[in-house]
Amino acid sequence: MWPGGERRRRPVASAAGGLGLTLSAMATDFTEETAADAVIESFAKTPDPRLRELLNSLVRHLHAFVRDTEPTIAEWEQAIEFLTATGQKCDDERQEFILLSDVLGISMLVETINNRTGGATESTVLGPFHVVKSPRRELGDTIDFVETGTPCVVRGRVLSADGSPLPGAELDVWQANDQGFYDVQQPDVQPRANGRGLFTADADGSFWFRTIVPSHYPIPTDGPVGALLNATERHPFRPAHIHFIVTAPGHRALTTHIFVAGSPYISSDAVFAVKKSLIKEFTSVDDPEQAARYGLTGSFSLTDFDIVLEPAAT
Ligand code: BEZ
Ligand code: FE
Repeated sequence: MWPGGERRRRPVASAAGGLGLTLSAMATDFTEETAADAVIESFAKTPDPRLRELLNSLVRHLHAFVRDTEPTIAEWEQAIEFLTATGQKCDDERQEFILLSDVLGISMLVETINNRTGGATESTVLGPFHVVKSPRRELGDTIDFVETGTPCVVRGRVLSADGSPLPGAELDVWQANDQGFYDVQQPDVQPRANGRGLFTADADGSFWFRTIVPSHYPIPTDGPVGALLNATERHPFRPAHIHFIVTAPGHRALTTHIFVAGSPYISSDAVFAVKKSLIKEFTSVDDPEQAARYGLTGSFSLTDFDIVLEPAAT
């Protein structure tokens, strides 16, 4: 029985060749104007109110998109094929749907909505190159074991929103090399965990480590997302950046990057992840005394990144 009414049947004349057959009819006739409401009504008994809300809005917006763009049958088939190929490209190592969400700006929108902060350091996307545990390293250690790039020191303090230091804060750091590759992309070239480190801030909340200035690099383009970028004449590059996940007891974890000021693609990141507050100068230092303080010889780049964490809601 259809909700709210008697089962209605109607004779099928033309399609059934006038044989007097009857078929079940819909509760309402399908029309372009009422289709969205009919589908939303079909979800009306969904017990979980949040699921119901999400489905209602999804149906409302998808139907509006179809009415707006009026795809041909061939175009709709192409869209289904694209989504199918996106799923088929996914495995334990590769998540093409997240990449699609990234290049559509959805990952950053969800990230930003969920990290509305007043005064804390801004967040940005996690990306696919984080590994579960970076090796633990001492303050001042290097995370670069290839030594082909411009030496660099990253230093700063981890603070709470009221400015008090957060001793013992943990910083999980990872980056691409000076050629724009992560260790996992070049297992024969880079030692495992090159460009990665887990640091603990000192009693003053301070941290510092040595590395090399990373390069900009392309996101993976050998799948449907790459084909989409190609078809739309979009480039696949991300500006040079260093990833951080910063945690401290009683505070919300922060996932973010610092971006190298002046890097190519800084104003056209393929995944829309740049926030102005995260762009940092990497200043060239040519001072043997300063270099020696960080265990370096010769000139190097220096960047400062103070990180403010928001106290966790109680
Ligand atoms: C990354 O920064 O590692 C990244 C983020 C989104 C897509 C691809 C790569
Ligand atoms: Fe990255």
